[in-house]
Amino acid sequence: MNTIHLISPDTQSTIQIGRALGQLLPRGTFVALDGVLGAGKTHFVKGIACGLEEGGWDGLRSPTFTLMLSYHGGRCPLHHVDFYRLNEAPDLPGEIVEAINNDRHITVVEWASIWREVWPKKYVHVHMEILDDNKRRITMEDHAGIKAELEKALERWVAEPARA
Ligand SMILES: Nc1ncnc2c1ncn2[C@@H]1O[C@H](COP(=O)(O)OP(=O)(O)O)[C@@H](O)[C@H]1O
Ligand SMILES: [Mg+2]
Repeated sequence: MNTIHLISPDTQSTIQIGRALGQLLPRGTFVALDGVLGAGKTHFVKGIACGLEEGGWDGLRSPTFTLMLSYHGGRCPLHHVDFYRLNEAPDLPGEIVEAINNDRHITVVEWASIWREVWPKKYVHVHMEILDDNKRRITMEDHAGIKAELEKALERWVAEPARA
């Protein structure tokens, strides 16, 4: 199995989990985020930016209206995209397709399952669900060959899989 099940108790933990992923992500990896509005996707991306040592992560904003925001201050370029607004678009803008397929950059997409056909081969799929209180269930499916390292880094948040 290539899946890791986590529980994040609060916002800071979600940022820390994203940070651990950001520290491990190989260049060229695509990160697909799914989960309803308010699940914590954008905060998770802040964590990834932090893990990449992107100095500007504190100012990271949701790209809902700009489609793609790019950051160049970290160990490798980070592109942050939100597919939500592209739901009805006939095609993805070329710059987004290029970012996704760039094997030197990391691209993270919120609402990624809207355009599953553009996902590259090497990706991590992160699904976020809202539980009681501030808890979030975070399920990571590794298709980038980093599961063992991830599991080690995320040990303190590992939880039992959700019951069907
Ligand atoms: N465990 C948690 N993880 C992430 N966000 C949380 C958590 N608990 C509460 N929140 C809050 O939920 C909201 C998530 O917002 P955001 O990251 O913009 O979500 P999304 O991008 O999925 O719409 C924030 O206000 C955040 O503080
Ligand atoms: Mg968001």
